[in-house]
Amino acid sequence: MKEEKLQELLDSLSMVEKIGQLVQVPGPVLEAQGQELGVRDALGISEEIIQNVGSTLNVVGADQIRRVQKAYLEKSRHKIPLLFMADIIYGFRTVFPIPLALGCTFDPELLKKLCVATSKESVAAGAQVTFSPMADLVRDARWGRCLESTGEDPYMNCRYAAAMVEGFQEGLQEEGAGKGMASCVKHFAAYGAPEGGRDYNTVDMSERRLRQEYLPSYKAGVDAGCEMIMTSFNTVDGIPSTGNKWLMDDVLRKEWGFEGVVITDYAAIAELMAHGVAEDGKEAARLAMEAGVDIDMCTDCYANNLEALIREGSIDETQLDQAVMRVLRLKNKLGLFEDPFRGADAVREKEEILTPKHRGLAREAAIKSMVLLENKEELLPLCREDFQGEKKIALIGPFADNRDALGMWAIHGDKDAVVTVKQAFLENIAPESLVCTEGCETMLAEDYTDLLAFYEQTGKAAWSTEKRKGEMERALALAAEADVAVLALGESELQGGEGGSRTKLTIPGDQLELLRRVRKCARKVVVLLFGGRPLILDEVKELADALLLVWYPGTEGGHAICDVLFGSREPEGRLSMSLPRSVGQMPLYYNAFSTGRPYDGKTPIRFFSRYTDCDNTPLYPYGYGLAYHKAAYGPVHLDSHTLDREGKIEVSVEIANESSRAGMETAQLYIQDMAGSVVRPVKELKGVCKVFLEAGEKKTVTFQITEDMLRFYGKRLRYESEPGKFRVTIAPDSSCQLQEEFNLV
Ligand code: NOJ
Repeated sequence: MKEEKLQELLDSLSMVEKIGQLVQVPGPVLEAQGQELGVRDALGISEEIIQNVGSTLNVVGADQIRRVQKAYLEKSRHKIPLLFMADIIYGFRTVFPIPLALGCTFDPELLKKLCVATSKESVAAGAQVTFSPMADLVRDARWGRCLESTGEDPYMNCRYAAAMVEGFQEGLQEEGAGKGMASCVKHFAAYGAPEGGRDYNTVDMSERRLRQEYLPSYKAGVDAGCEMIMTSFNTVDGIPSTGNKWLMDDVLRKEWGFEGVVITDYAAIAELMAHGVAEDGKEAARLAMEAGVDIDMCTDCYANNLEALIREGSIDETQLDQAVMRVLRLKNKLGLFEDPFRGADAVREKEEILTPKHRGLAREAAIKSMVLLENKEELLPLCREDFQGEKKIALIGPFADNRDALGMWAIHGDKDAVVTVKQAFLENIAPESLVCTEGCETMLAEDYTDLLAFYEQTGKAAWSTEKRKGEMERALALAAEADVAVLALGESELQGGEGGSRTKLTIPGDQLELLRRVRKCARKVVVLLFGGRPLILDEVKELADALLLVWYPGTEGGHAICDVLFGSREPEGRLSMSLPRSVGQMPLYYNAFSTGRPYDGKTPIRFFSRYTDCDNTPLYPYGYGLAYHKAAYGPVHLDSHTLDREGKIEVSVEIANESSRAGMETAQLYIQDMAGSVVRPVKELKGVCKVFLEAGEKKTVTFQITEDMLRFYGKRLRYESEPGKFRVTIAPDSSCQLQEEFNLV
């Protein structure tokens, strides 16, 4: 439909019909089944608005969507189709590793491919908008939603956010093609920085930090053309995002030129009252409208108050019109006026989901995101041939043979399609070489008192004392008779994700005890660690011979784990988040500011910026990960030590594969601005290059440094570089020393 036609359509709408476009309701309101993952009171909106609502969420499935759309349109005067949005975060039916794991791939192109695949599956099943990517920077492992973020680094987060938007939206511009889905970047802004790591809590930081570290990834999503932005639940400088005009209007629309739709997070307009910035729903609606929020997700605030606000002149009707027009434009862009079902088709849906191609991608992504943290005496890879009847593996642990491999936000994922570790083992080794048992539960009752309702939904029940004892003994007996004990341990899916903040970050339940006891009787111990956030691994590090962080690896997790364990592939992941020694270190991130009393980590002197009971450093740094090949990085070389503003310098390093195995290196470029008008981080990632080296091969990796890479928000809060001295290095992880210097003139 042409813009003039859309304008005519808008002009023909009554006030109620316009307001309806800005209201989103959960599936049940439209007699549809939809997952609900929020706290919601009965909506209390009129039948008239319900008949005119603009969108719904988490209603998926071609048949269902066709039925709901058809019923809706039959009653609709103007035949404006409903928009179907959904939380399709890291895969639809085929589930990929969680985003924090994907962050470990250092491969934005791969993420793009995964999003193209996700959009194919979702579109066939009728979904039109996805609430992904989550571009929130994370630094605090207590926050359960770390799992949905790509990590702690602004540079990588930008690249990932852009790649994901491009992937989801691929094909969207092709008129009438019914390809691609609209991507909604969230949660604008800084949702990943709640105080104390407690979900939905206050966020308060300087504008400099916000702009420098937190905003860039959302902006990268906007620059990549995302059609939608979701507000965050938190405050930014005392004002909740959903009513924050500075954020939504000045920054997002005016500075960044965003022309798409702004939607709230779940019930966030009503939460303006709970925050205490609005006395009632009417004031909340006014604040959100003034801020430039278009769609109200699942409250009655817009539905029941906008008309009165307009009639009394508190809100200008043109503002309403602009918001409605943005929604109509999106529907038009998606081709809904031509085909309200967008080709949703149950047959195609079946054909498109869980295809061998998508499963292959899931396996590849899982391999590339697993991080090998320890490999003492090169225990891994295990030799497949040894386990064809001769030697034995004891596969033990709550994750050994269950399908809890998807993580909390894979709400549309097909759990039955998950390949378990045990299943995959049996494809690799002889049945007589494998013994398997759970050993213990993932959590004990005291770990999940708050999660009880969710726990019961999983169909699991707490073990009796007898069963606990019996299983532990059985596990120890199996471990004692095997050549290798492989322990599949981790955090319960219920403990992470939204509303999954924790203060204790050790592996829950009896699992650590199981590891301690297995260690005593087993010859070799490999730990496969499942989870969605950095956990405290100091003890595990000591006890395990090999430690492989597999995260929630997704549908093909079992296969990918075996590919890595038996050496068909290398573990390719490098940490997207620093792993702490202690919860007390939170927030922990490699790119911190220098302090006036930097601690050298050696002399235990009191009056330095340090803890008296714990190192400042992480247990494993950002960017870290072992491989099966062994590479050595030579000295860094600069082609010039002076950088002109219009020029470039080249920095290079020779990397030598000193092993007899080929493998992939993830070379990381780190730069430090030695002195600025404001304090600068000790180092910042500015480039990444994945380079494949044959056994014994040497390759030179070169990065170009240009002035724009050195910009930051200085004293005047302008994004610009400052002349002076910089240090630089290329290294395998962020714990590196910066080696060379150059001057920006
Ligand atoms: C709340 C979550 O914060 C958000 O990420 C999600 O997209 C919405 N609920 C909709 O389910």
